[in-house]
Amino acid sequence: MIAELLARRDRVLGAGAPLFYTTPVHLVRGEGVHLYDPDGRRYVDMYNNVPCVGHGNPYVAEAMARQQGTLNVHSRYLHEGILEFAERLVGLHPSLPERPDIESVIVSCSGTEAIEVALRMARLATGRQGIVCTNATYHGNSEAVGKLTRLPVGQNSSPDVRSFAFPETYRPIVPGASEAELCEAYLEQLEEAIRGLQNSPEGFAGLILCSILANEGLPDIPAGFMARAAAMARAAGGLVIADEVQAGYCRAGTWWGYSVTGYTPDIVVTGKPMGNGLPLAATAASKKLVDGFRAGTRYFNTFASSPLQAAVGLAVIDYIEREKLADSVAEVGTYLKSALQARAAGHGFVGDVRGVGLFLGVEIVKEDGAKTPDPERAVAIVDALKDHGFLTSNAGAFRNVLKFRPPLVFRREHADAFLAAYDAVLAAQH
Ligand SMILES: Cc1ncc(COP(=O)(O)O)c(C=O)c1O
Repeated sequence: MIAELLARRDRVLGAGAPLFYTTPVHLVRGEGVHLYDPDGRRYVDMYNNVPCVGHGNPYVAEAMARQQGTLNVHSRYLHEGILEFAERLVGLHPSLPERPDIESVIVSCSGTEAIEVALRMARLATGRQGIVCTNATYHGNSEAVGKLTRLPVGQNSSPDVRSFAFPETYRPIVPGASEAELCEAYLEQLEEAIRGLQNSPEGFAGLILCSILANEGLPDIPAGFMARAAAMARAAGGLVIADEVQAGYCRAGTWWGYSVTGYTPDIVVTGKPMGNGLPLAATAASKKLVDGFRAGTRYFNTFASSPLQAAVGLAVIDYIEREKLADSVAEVGTYLKSALQARAAGHGFVGDVRGVGLFLGVEIVKEDGAKTPDPERAVAIVDALKDHGFLTSNAGAFRNVLKFRPPLVFRREHADAFLAAYDAVLAAQH
């Protein structure tokens, strides 16, 4: 069966369309945190952040079916649903002294589109082109947004994008430095990138950061770095863009990753979890920035800002709030992280345990005392966890970080079941 599906896939989707696991998983159904294969084998989903309120969530499915059966049109008509959704969404952002309130939003259909809107918004507002990002980031797949892609580390070069070394304490750019010294060292790198753009015809339009540096491998960030980075970007006349596609929507135990890592963005991009699987993304900012973008682009997006997106987007926000998922994520995430940390000392190949909320990473390294990344062992662990019924993946700049990022409805009993499998899989690695 698997071999036949692989052959069909190769024929109709083209060779090399990515697949997880050495032996791929075939799925036919999902419910809550569980996924099922055709033989009824049940997996716990510890990877997918898109079905944030659970696979097949009946409340969301009902809202979707009801709206699709009532009305679904593009955005050039008046409809109250989309206004209510936009109001609820921008209302989730706090008022902060460093910026005008986030009051308006451009809705789109993917993280990539929403990031592209943010880049254009920053460029239109500043009249400059240059964007600074980290050296191990990913923000999307279009030609314009793809210019930011730095994975594998350092890939890509384009005159309107400069990168700086992502801040981390595990493999610091200055070995042996204190956290405060490290913070300064990374800020110097950022300053150099900004200055490089200022001294070029592009100029500096903005700094873009994933609020928890997810694709960089969830590093522990030297204290104070994010706030000072944002202040530096503003002082240089640029706008600060938070990519909350991964970090937002309670993933970090609170609505926004930027509240956890402690900085203030001017523009906030959201995507993946917003529609629990229905394509839905957004770029939120002050009214002035959004008005400027609309005036400069006459933006239209056929499937975006539809009554269907609004109904589903509202149902997801309702469910998260009603079930108090932010609190649950904070509690279960802290529990799981402490349990993983407590186990680290027993395994020489576990270099580090880090992350926040229900987005945790375990760094797998060679036992050579040099923190050499070990992506092969990470893949072996991911495969073995799958065989025990837990779907995870490996990520990070060196693909050696075990990535645990379940739907937000992952509870303590799921964490306990996972820890039993994790213990067995890691013991078998000795
Ligand atoms: C941090 C981040 N930003 C943006 C994107 C792009 O989102 P999409 O795949 O919906 O275009 C991704 C996708 O993985 C991401 O990880």
